Amino acid sequence: MSFLNWSILWLICCVVTAAAQFCEIVDSGIYSIKCHELSSLEEINDVPTTNLRGLEIRNTQTKLTIGAANSSLNLPQLSFLDLHVPRLELLSEGFSNLPHLWHLNISGCGVEQLLVSHFPTDCLLGQIYASDNKLSVLTKDLLSKFPNLIFGFFENNSLSHVELPYMGSLNILDLSHNDLTTFNITFGNCPYLKKLYLNNNKLTQFQITLPEEDVASSAEKVLGLEILDLSNNSISELLENQFESLGELVWLELSGNKIAVLKSAHFAGLTSLRFLHLQSNGKLELSEHAFEELKQLETLDLSYNGLEILSPHLFGYNEVDKQGLYDYLPMPYMRKLNLNGNKLQQLDPRTFEKLPSLDTLLLANNELRVLPEGLFVPIQNLRVLDMRHNQLTEISSDILKSLNNVKDLLINYNQLTFLPDLNGTLSHLQHIGIDGNPWQRDSFAQFEQWLIARKIQYLKDDDEKLPL
Ligand SMILES: *[C@@H]1O[C@H](CO)[C@@H](O)[C@H](O)[C@H]1NC(C)=O
Ligand SMILES: *[C@@H]1O[C@H](CO)[C@@H](O)[C@H](O)[C@H]1NC(C)=O
Ligand SMILES: *[C@@H]1O[C@H](CO)[C@@H](O)[C@H](O)[C@H]1NC(C)=O
Ligand SMILES: *[C@@H]1O[C@H](CO)[C@@H](O)[C@H](O)[C@H]1NC(C)=O
Ligand SMILES: *[C@@H]1O[C@H](CO)[C@@H](O)[C@H](O)[C@H]1NC(C)=O
Ligand SMILES: *[C@@H]1O[C@H](CO)[C@@H](O)[C@H](O)[C@H]1NC(C)=O
Repeated sequence: MSFLNWSILWLICCVVTAAAQFCEIVDSGIYSIKCHELSSLEEINDVPTTNLRGLEIRNTQTKLTIGAANSSLNLPQLSFLDLHVPRLELLSEGFSNLPHLWHLNISGCGVEQLLVSHFPTDCLLGQIYASDNKLSVLTKDLLSKFPNLIFGFFENNSLSHVELPYMGSLNILDLSHNDLTTFNITFGNCPYLKKLYLNNNKLTQFQITLPEEDVASSAEKVLGLEILDLSNNSISELLENQFESLGELVWLELSGNKIAVLKSAHFAGLTSLRFLHLQSNGKLELSEHAFEELKQLETLDLSYNGLEILSPHLFGYNEVDKQGLYDYLPMPYMRKLNLNGNKLQQLDPRTFEKLPSLDTLLLANNELRVLPEGLFVPIQNLRVLDMRHNQLTEISSDILKSLNNVKDLLINYNQLTFLPDLNGTLSHLQHIGIDGNPWQRDSFAQFEQWLIARKIQYLKDDDEKLPL
């Protein structure tokens, strides 16, 4: 047979197999089927459809069209619809012939728009997964069609406009990786919204606006957000008290913006905040007492911000007592502080004074030359200390003695030539990173012996176990 004939045969064979259309029952309990290479829902005719609850369509090459005006579709019970098709064309009626639709997955189906007419009146939709499409707007009218929506996933589209109506069930809204330049949430509109992802957009501000008319009941005026992701946007300025109504927020992501200055008024009202991420904001200026409102704070990431100096009064919690007097107190829950990748040349010995629970302190990739006496004395719970890639020429015996509970000590890539006598120090050490220093032969031999005797493991600079 000639090459041409073989090719034709191959072509016929593969196109036929790949395009083979069939449906199979995947669950007979909640009656569900999976179909392959369907071009319309009307094509399901080898199984009964009147009581069908779940439908998954997997097309590798066939375009699926849904919503013809003359459709004879009979899927009154369909609740779960999962479409994995290269292209979904929504005609005027869209999903409106599916009165029971509750879970809809159209991720990665090349959808350009969702219209009000695409959904049934009294739409029951509780979950919509519509990421990786080409959506450009979500209008208030459209979203008003989804009063029962609990999860809305719209990440990685081209959304430039999203307007939220009152959505009394909404719990998670993901609008990350879009083109939003503004986004407002009206106080009281989403009383049960817990997680809001707005990262990787073009936002210059995040605004909580007040309702035009005071219709919502007072119980619904609490904004119960727990997670707010605003990372990788273009926010250059925070407003004083802008997060004031977010008393239940636990996790705030502001990394990858261009915030220039931070002071305590920016965090006013964040009484439940435990995780605050501020890395990679260009050149950040931190006012004294910047974090004094954040009593519950556990993790603070200030890495890669060009910080040159830290005020000795940066970390601490300000409490007002019954007489109205201020007291600058230790932050009781702060466990992890990331200061990697800044330009710190020196630290005041009081810097960590009010962080008694600190467990992990990351100071890698700075320009530290000396560590002041007493620096680590207030942080006796410290277990991980990363000082890789600095300019340290010496670590004193007193400093080493204050690292009583440190398990992981990383001093790779400094200018160290020796370490003082290690006897009586570092009693809990398990791992150490020492490469990349100009060690003197004799000194190195001595502390190497100590490390071997104590069975301390070496960590390389690029070790996966490193706490980065
Ligand atoms: C619906 O109308 C289109 C043309 O507008 C036609 O091709 C199709 O066969 C019709 N379908 C049914 C089920 O009548
Ligand atoms: C939705 O579909 C996408 C792409 O086909 C898939 O990766 C994802 O797991 C689905 N999500 C759910 C919740 O079914
Ligand atoms: C975004 O979606 C496109 C398809 O629309 C996909 O190719 C791409 O990998 C997605 N990007 C991310 C970051 O998920
Ligand atoms: C958000 O509010 C600002 C000012 O209040 C307004 O200019 C902007 O258009 C609003 N954006 C949206 C998406 O509603
Ligand atoms: C933000 O952007 C940086 C750099 O492009 C990337 O490494 C990081 O994963 C992004 N963060 C999120 C939450 O997408
Ligand atoms: C440290 O202790 C070991 C054994 O306990 C001893 O051999 C060594 O000489 C001591 N080093 C110094 C500098 O005292």
